[in-house]
Amino acid sequence: MLIKKPSDIKPSEITSESVYRSRRRFIRDSGALALGMAVGAGSSSTLSAQDGDSLKARAPVNMKRTPPDSWWEDKFATIKPAPDSEPFFTGETLTPYRDVTRYNNFYEFGMDKGDPFANSGEFKSDPWSVEITGEVARPGTYHLEDILKPVDLEERIYRLRCVEAWSMVIPWIGFPLSDLIKQFEPNSKAKYVEFETLLDPETMPGIRSRFAIIDWPYREGLRMDEAMNPLTLMAVGLYGDYLPPQNGAPMRLIVPWKYGFKSIKSIVKINFRETLPNTTWNDLQSREYGFFANVNPNVHHPRWRQDMERRLPQTLFSRQYIETRIFNGYGEHVAHMYDGMDLARNY
Ligand code: MTE
Repeated sequence: MLIKKPSDIKPSEITSESVYRSRRRFIRDSGALALGMAVGAGSSSTLSAQDGDSLKARAPVNMKRTPPDSWWEDKFATIKPAPDSEPFFTGETLTPYRDVTRYNNFYEFGMDKGDPFANSGEFKSDPWSVEITGEVARPGTYHLEDILKPVDLEERIYRLRCVEAWSMVIPWIGFPLSDLIKQFEPNSKAKYVEFETLLDPETMPGIRSRFAIIDWPYREGLRMDEAMNPLTLMAVGLYGDYLPPQNGAPMRLIVPWKYGFKSIKSIVKINFRETLPNTTWNDLQSREYGFFANVNPNVHHPRWRQDMERRLPQTLFSRQYIETRIFNGYGEHVAHMYDGMDLARNY
């Protein structure tokens, strides 16, 4: 395995959270203003990654990622910073870039936390297309470039709570899933949205593994109102840079009030349908992983409790445990969608 020992990791590879925050503040206060003046009215709330202190400079130099075409560069040239208030932002300490990109669940690359970083070197995320099917006026296969053309990228700082009881705080770059859905004009029969991950045994060694437990491709789904909720994000980057393969390049879902397994990576298919879709973990073990998978400290996993979580980063000597909040702390913005539902039965 190619996982580096901590002693092999240069300090320059580690993105300091305080550096990120101060750059972010600097860019919002000065860079955004400069850009606003350069390109005219209406742009004062955007920031330019090329402007002055580059956002992308935060990425460790040896981090694997597919070199982007120029349209990616153009898209990342303006990113709206997260507001300084909930729910699109949290002031909690960011999980360092190194942990976000080396402690992953992406079973297509292996089952250990270090496997996605170590085994995704062959993965190519550019060019990329997404198939849109089902109850929509505009089905078809679309280049990612065309899907992203009409959307504005923004930064959102969200908590990510895995069903395994660990959590992180991650600055994503993305756009509301609702902005993507509207492009394809779903009809009144579209009650659910179903997502599928790329299935490429050539570049995804976890799929070839004899020990794989998943019936590929990885599938997830949301109810239409959940998909349209303003918190639901399609992410194309993190820490100001493109998504690395291990985090779901080039485009993955983020549903911050649900357990992390709902946040499906490297999406190649989106299907609009009338009935509840089958989803990977629910199919595998329905008693342990529900379709809704809303973060809930009162409903425990059959094999472990869910009222506490281990917040990363951790070291050998310090592990930080915090209380898990209902809907991962986003209840004010999402609880209404489950009014009248028994959350213990619909876990
Ligand atoms: N998507 C795919 N295609 N395959 C996976 O194995 N794992 C899920 C989710 N999306 C997974 C996936 C789980 S269990 C979690 S907790 C999150 O991705 C982890 O995202 P991260 O590695 O970016 O932290």
